[in-house]
Amino acid sequence: MKPVKVGICGLGTVGGGTFNVLQRNAEEIARRAGRGIEVAQIAARRPNPKCMTGATHITADIFDVANNPEIDVVVELIGGYTLARELVLKAIENGKHVVTANKALIAVHGNEIFAKAREKGVIVAFEAAVAGGIPVIKAIREGLAGNRINWLAGIINGTGNFILTEMREKGRAFSDVLQEAQALGYAEADPTFDVEGIDAAHKLTILASIAFGIPLQFDKAYTEGISQLTSADVNYAEALGYRIKHLGVARRTDAGFELRVHPTLIPADRLIANVNGVMNAVMVNGDAAGSTLFYGAGAGMEPTASSVVADLVDVVRAMTSDPENRVPHLAFQPDSLSDHPILPIEECESAYYLRIQAKDHPGVLAQVASILSARGINIESIMQKEAEEHDGLVPMILVTHRVVESRVNDAIAALEALSDVVGSVVRIRVEQLV
Ligand code: HSE
Repeated sequence: MKPVKVGICGLGTVGGGTFNVLQRNAEEIARRAGRGIEVAQIAARRPNPKCMTGATHITADIFDVANNPEIDVVVELIGGYTLARELVLKAIENGKHVVTANKALIAVHGNEIFAKAREKGVIVAFEAAVAGGIPVIKAIREGLAGNRINWLAGIINGTGNFILTEMREKGRAFSDVLQEAQALGYAEADPTFDVEGIDAAHKLTILASIAFGIPLQFDKAYTEGISQLTSADVNYAEALGYRIKHLGVARRTDAGFELRVHPTLIPADRLIANVNGVMNAVMVNGDAAGSTLFYGAGAGMEPTASSVVADLVDVVRAMTSDPENRVPHLAFQPDSLSDHPILPIEECESAYYLRIQAKDHPGVLAQVASILSARGINIESIMQKEAEEHDGLVPMILVTHRVVESRVNDAIAALEALSDVVGSVVRIRVEQLV
């Protein structure tokens, strides 16, 4: 049988890795796919020194690939929203299947892209968009298809995890570690996407859609970054038996779905709390399987290429199948998606770590306790440190039981209004993940 012809758009880190893996493992890949997979064309503005493209046809124009009648599958690895959207829609219009690693594109324009793909009977595969080399999309969409998924929680940004790991293990400052993460090549072109949680929110949006069968709703995801975290909180969390991780959490509740990315205290003995450096991990809790954990490299040349190539193999296997009988893009049949709402963060529920800087006066603790109890907030643990030498203020650290966020907002406003409380109250959400 003739090989399937693939056009790769973008020959950066992931594009170069995809080309190399396809060459190196060509025989194994053909044995799995049932046909060879040949890179017939590459669109790249400059060569990639890590990639020996030989006689492969190179063009500078990505639309040459989307319009090339010889190409069966377009691999979109240029990133970004606008041009990538145009490229993917053009490829679909021309009846080509698409494989993409572009989380921003899928999270923001996925509903439109999948509708167009259904109309044309083509596949859009996106395993590499979430958690690089970890096949978590396939696991949720197919492996856990028998479950009603209750919640998932993931460390889905390697750069952020690297920063938090270095802050905790080596006491390094946030900005210093960010520079190193950029030099290592894991950070997004705009690193605020990593540290402010936008990249993680893109990935969480995708995971939530395939877990719960809801349309992609990136604009409704709550996003809070790690740039305001201090070493003091990292250390206090440690003393309380927790680790701080930048977590994406999606949870099913009776009122709607929670979709939130924020720094989170996790008990230090959980496996996911021990995922360090640039590694990613996603926990998925289903009613039948219980909790499962998927761990691996969330970025990088070949780990991400591994997922792109797996998608290519899937596409080749499914090419001749009836489009109605393929795995749906969002795991659930498109006419069976749920319209259960995404909850605003004020209606989400979690436990909370609160750090209060108080004057060293009698009765402050009683006032704090009374504000919390008046709002039905139950204190799980409390730690008060000795007064700081430089300002005489006493750090008071509380961990609450689970409570709806609006009540905590109200309590924080009341705490900050106390004359004995100085500055803002630090609030970090806490998840037990059981
Ligand atoms: N900037 C991303 C990260 C790359 O650090 O995880 C992979 O999506």
